[in-house]
Amino acid sequence: MQRLNIAMIGYRFMGKAHSNAWRQVSRFFDVPCEPVMKVICGRNEPDVKKAAHAYGWEQSATDWEEVVSRDDIDVVDICTPGDTHLPIAVAAARAKKVVFCEKPLANTLGDAERMLDAVQTNGVIHMLCHNYRRAPAVALARQIIKEGRIGQIYHYRGTYLQDWLVNPDFPRLWRLEKAKAGSGALGDIASHSIDLARHLVGEIAEVSGLLKTFIAERPARAGSREMAPVDVDDAALALVRFENGAVGMIEGSRFAAGRKNYNRFEINGSKGSLVFNLERMNELELYLEEGPESGFRTIIVTDAKHPYVSAWWPRGHIIGYEHTFTHTVLDLLRAIAEQKIPSPNFADGVRNQRVLDAIERASESKAWEKV
Ligand SMILES: NC(=O)c1ccc[n+]([C@@H]2O[C@H](COP(=O)([O-])OP(=O)(O)OC[C@H]3O[C@@H](n4cnc5c(N)ncnc54)[C@H](O)[C@@H]3O)[C@@H](O)[C@H]2O)c1
Repeated sequence: MQRLNIAMIGYRFMGKAHSNAWRQVSRFFDVPCEPVMKVICGRNEPDVKKAAHAYGWEQSATDWEEVVSRDDIDVVDICTPGDTHLPIAVAAARAKKVVFCEKPLANTLGDAERMLDAVQTNGVIHMLCHNYRRAPAVALARQIIKEGRIGQIYHYRGTYLQDWLVNPDFPRLWRLEKAKAGSGALGDIASHSIDLARHLVGEIAEVSGLLKTFIAERPARAGSREMAPVDVDDAALALVRFENGAVGMIEGSRFAAGRKNYNRFEINGSKGSLVFNLERMNELELYLEEGPESGFRTIIVTDAKHPYVSAWWPRGHIIGYEHTFTHTVLDLLRAIAEQKIPSPNFADGVRNQRVLDAIERASESKAWEKV
């Protein structure tokens, strides 16, 4: 079997999630090529060495430019903040590597377009990690929609709510700095709701927008008295019009007390509705219009016939957040074996970024903006 050497840049939250995915994928799925966890890269040598050992990487390194240009590397996996995606992805594409990048693709639309241009010009395979597409319940929702079972779609309601910023003493991390993160709740979490909207309903044509920062300065570091400005949105809201006539709303907030990772959508069509909530990710609610006794039912999405499930456990034996990443790298490996560009890819990243950009413009202009 073909072996593919993986290099991963960044080793904290997503670094841990992606490491687990690379490690598990061939233990559960019949993969067409075997990923080899070759090298993990970060800036702090002792910490990255520790991560290499804990996550099971063969080597660690501190210079991503050197790593990306190595002849023995096949895939570059980018798990760093948004401001680093462009230089790493462009260098990896020029070195003819497969590029797998965390969302949002970049901090600005211009950077996202340059990244798409780099992977296309160099003819390399590329993928963007909007992992929620590959929760089995979401994949099942897409099947149900494609089969026409809920009919013509009228409404999409996407809410992605967290509460980790409600405490004003929470320090200003990189996620609260525009120069590093590009935007706040908008790019961080509303981008996932936008990806699911595009995946399940269709392209977004026009948006309104409202971005709000509730707490404009925070401790520069945990426990510090020194304050630092927050120049990104704490909450992002938009009404959206889809090209196919559906209408919807997107809401991302990190100030929704009690909501931990409430990534929910509700879709209403002419024959029925679908509801998904990541906090109950093994379930999908389905309503089909079937007369006076019809009502919402909850499907436990753990049947071997459901997407991705047969590789895991018997019915009712649930799976978790980390499996969405395993499914994503599985489909990347399959695409590499077939020399195809998987979805979502950098073109999806650019389309997503156009929506983020339009919401930012609409928040400024207080008018509807074209995507
Ligand atoms: N798919 C998802 O659901 C999801 C969830 C969380 C984060 N993300 C995305 O993943 C990316 C990383 O976020 P995270 O939560 O893992 O952040 P994090 O802060 O937990 O980790 C960032 C890592 O990048 C490294 N890093 C930062 N700057 C670097 C540089 N210049 N060179 C080399 N390494 C550098 C840090 O040392 C750290 O290891 C972001 O784009 C974020 O939006 C995606």
